[in-house]
Amino acid sequence: MSETTLHPRTIRWEGDIDGHVVLIDQTRLPHEELDLPVEDPETMIDAIVRLAVRGAPAIGVAGAYGVCLATRGLEELPAVRDALTRALPLLRDARPTAVNLATMVDRMETLLRERSERPGMTGMELRRELLAEARRIHEEDADLCRRIGEAGAPLVAEGASVLTHCNAGALATAGSGTALSVLFEAWARGTRFQVFADETRPLLQGARLTSWELARAGIPVTVICDNAAAHLMARGEITQVITGADRIAANGDAANKIGTYGVAAVAARHAIPFHVAAPSTTFDLETPTGDRIPIEERSPDEVWGAVGGGPPPEGVRFRNPAFDVTPAALVAGWVTEHGVLQPPFAALR
Ligand code: MRU
Repeated sequence: MSETTLHPRTIRWEGDIDGHVVLIDQTRLPHEELDLPVEDPETMIDAIVRLAVRGAPAIGVAGAYGVCLATRGLEELPAVRDALTRALPLLRDARPTAVNLATMVDRMETLLRERSERPGMTGMELRRELLAEARRIHEEDADLCRRIGEAGAPLVAEGASVLTHCNAGALATAGSGTALSVLFEAWARGTRFQVFADETRPLLQGARLTSWELARAGIPVTVICDNAAAHLMARGEITQVITGADRIAANGDAANKIGTYGVAAVAARHAIPFHVAAPSTTFDLETPTGDRIPIEERSPDEVWGAVGGGPPPEGVRFRNPAFDVTPAALVAGWVTEHGVLQPPFAALR
């Protein structure tokens, strides 16, 4: 399979300056492969909040295109500027934990500021520049994924049983993924291994998305309940772990989907190497340690929603933190486009 058919196209811009975004609606996968057209920033914010598009790098690209959508149909510079002033903070804050979203929206804002000050700049010219920048962010992300795969592929041992949590694949990026890019590249190089995918409660990104991506690439994958991982580790059935990340602090503490910390802690208990794969765009070197990373709390309805059926028993409360922080001490190495790094991440500074 070629690279383009191997991986789904998570996000694309269709048309020219007045074009729009098309997402794969990830809430419908794997049962339906449905295109979701997005023509304005409000719909993009809604798609990000509902996880129709999700994963740290993918929401960074979605945020950048969302900025372009805010100026659709506008021609005069003041109107373009006003629309952006309204849309930028809303896009930036759509989800708090993955640093990629804020970083990419800020990058668009920086370009806006620089270019608006240029003498003779027109609204249309500014819009063209913004779309070109969003396209660059998109292409750069695909390249970062490819390089992460190359850097991490040698970590996957022949005959390994690799556990992953959530979805850090093509669907979470604009390329081949982060943790899954490592697996795709190792497989392409002829290493043979199997993958265990944690189902990833409550929204089942592992059961729905990771299993789908690996199966369509021909990589053997077995979905397990999140709470089966420790048991399989204790029995020697998992030999290594690799996950993605949403934000990595300067000391290496890594925020990722809720449940990752538990996986890392049990892996350490059984001396199983635990690697985090992420592009430099997911490192937040301004944040010294993981306890300073904002953790998204999502609707408690998602917790009971996975149970289905009627309402919960009277008086029962729910809590739904969407991410946790794995302490750096539990991480064997951070796989980036610059190789497998260790804190203080000199290559990223
Ligand atoms: O809530 P989600 O599905 O956006 O969470 C995604 C994750 O936790 C991924 O592991 C992370 O973004 C890395 S994606 C390459």
